[in-house]
Amino acid sequence: MCGIVGIVGREAVAQRLFDGLKRLEYRGYDSAGICTVGGGDFERRRAEGKLDNLKRELDADPLAGDVGIAHTRWATHGAPTVDNAHPHIAGPVALVHNGIIENFKPLRDELIADGRTFLSETDSEVVAHLVAREVEGGASPQQAVATVLPRLHGAFAIAFLFKDHPDTVIGARMGAPLTVGYGDGENYLGSDALALAPLTQRIAYLEEGDWAVVTRDRIAIFDRSNAPVERDIVESGASAQRIEKGNYRHFMLKEINEQPVVVAQTLQSYLRTLEGRVALPDIEFDLSAVNRVTIVACGTSFYAGMVAKYWFEQFARVPVDIDVASEFRYRQPVLEPGGLALFISQSGETADTLAALRHARSEGQVVAVVCNVPTSSMAREADLLLPTHAGPEIGVASTKAFTCQLAVLAALAANFARAKGRLSEAEERDIVEHLREAPEAISEALKQDEAIAALAPLVAPARDVLYLGRGPDYPMALEGALKLKEISYIHAEGYAAGEMKHGPIALIDDLVPVIVIAPSGPLFEKTVSNMQEVRARGGRIILVSDEHGIAEAGEGCMATIVMPEVHPLIAPLVYAVPVQLLAYHVAVAKGTDVDQPRNLAKSVTVE
Ligand code: G6P
Repeated sequence: MCGIVGIVGREAVAQRLFDGLKRLEYRGYDSAGICTVGGGDFERRRAEGKLDNLKRELDADPLAGDVGIAHTRWATHGAPTVDNAHPHIAGPVALVHNGIIENFKPLRDELIADGRTFLSETDSEVVAHLVAREVEGGASPQQAVATVLPRLHGAFAIAFLFKDHPDTVIGARMGAPLTVGYGDGENYLGSDALALAPLTQRIAYLEEGDWAVVTRDRIAIFDRSNAPVERDIVESGASAQRIEKGNYRHFMLKEINEQPVVVAQTLQSYLRTLEGRVALPDIEFDLSAVNRVTIVACGTSFYAGMVAKYWFEQFARVPVDIDVASEFRYRQPVLEPGGLALFISQSGETADTLAALRHARSEGQVVAVVCNVPTSSMAREADLLLPTHAGPEIGVASTKAFTCQLAVLAALAANFARAKGRLSEAEERDIVEHLREAPEAISEALKQDEAIAALAPLVAPARDVLYLGRGPDYPMALEGALKLKEISYIHAEGYAAGEMKHGPIALIDDLVPVIVIAPSGPLFEKTVSNMQEVRARGGRIILVSDEHGIAEAGEGCMATIVMPEVHPLIAPLVYAVPVQLLAYHVAVAKGTDVDQPRNLAKSVTVE
């Protein structure tokens, strides 16, 4: 994935490039680097690991130069070492790259046969050499880039810097996002509008295959056939303010605690409370004609989609398929006319989900997107945009975006049900009432913070943890296991409670904590039976339920977590809180980097 910033400035750029990287750190933090040009040569600083390491390098040895490019890396080809850190330099060319050059191997062989020496294991360095070879052969930067781009297969966003043209940065995009920013006597390049927000609000989104020659007073954009094109300049609206942690120890904890407010904010645009109606925001779309829904997403967003499948089928009786984006795209799914393809993404940039979206569109599906970033690629490509209003989410492990996605999906399920004639006015009013109760119920759930923190020492030493749930609580079990894996590095598995007897029950012993998610309701008895199967084998159970459920089944559990009693529709929104808090406190007990866990990135822009 990786984040890119470029500035063709009038004054020193290193600090501003660094600030841009800070805003892009969510895209990866394996290494970072900055290269500037001036005085006839490149100057470069690179460092392994988080941006703080690069800052130390810059403080010890500051970078001059009014023009430069910068990069924060999520490693694909080559370990996260300084040698593999971008920017890469090949003779007169430096570059930063986001994405994967799939045909790098034959290109590298060709360049080595040509006598070129590689200093890194990255796929990116081949592009620097290809362009350098053209420039050394007498081509202008523009000609060199135009010649090389058609040779690259895969997905990329690239920014090039040229030693002998210290007033130019060239950016190119294919499959990974890149924006250009218009300043006052300066111009910019960035992976997203957020990175450029402190520099400018006037931006243009490059389209697939576009490349742009950025100088101080002009940005010339070309399409994939090298023809000059104009792209609309828009006000980005991205906030220039840096998001702070406030009094919280971690962004994740802050974001968990923001959920009552952001879920309420999100629901506000989907509920007409006075009328007791649900409504899609500012959209006229006839859901009654939809005969099938295909949900596609990745990671936590995928689990929100799994919950939605239960809701859409139960309330609207509309058939739902669901798949992770990386599988959907390549399994030749059958997509029939009249289908709605629903993509769920916090960032709106996840490469697999975006590729799946484009595939669904090419197969004639109406494309709906539930997304937290209204300026993102997915949001811009949606026929039907269903925004979540979670605000910027900084913690790599998604929390508040997830509950906001659930809020939108629950409202969408109700909209569907009404459109399909399956909801009476009274039932709709009832659903609106329950959804309105969600923020307060989430606040109640948050009151268990201390009690959950006290349980962390019981889970932190475990090597394996199981999460069990049924119905819409099954995806919550999967989400609980994912959260724990992501931030505490403990192996965890989520299982459909009834499926446990077909395999995972063999794992049960007195070393494996088993977290059972079982709100009282229609599936409670069945889940409790599965829980007893665990107990009978010495399993150590943490039961998450309401008072009623705990009174009925809490005896003999290692611990219980008490949730407010809620309607089954909003249970997933409420039960998200204890699984998030448990993962958080276990990670804190283990001393991991909660907000930036190893090997992960917030936005995954490679397939
Ligand atoms: C990454 C993040 C996850 C996130 C997933 C999907 O793996 O670490 O937290 O759920 O991407 O991201 P999206 O932005 O599409 O929701």
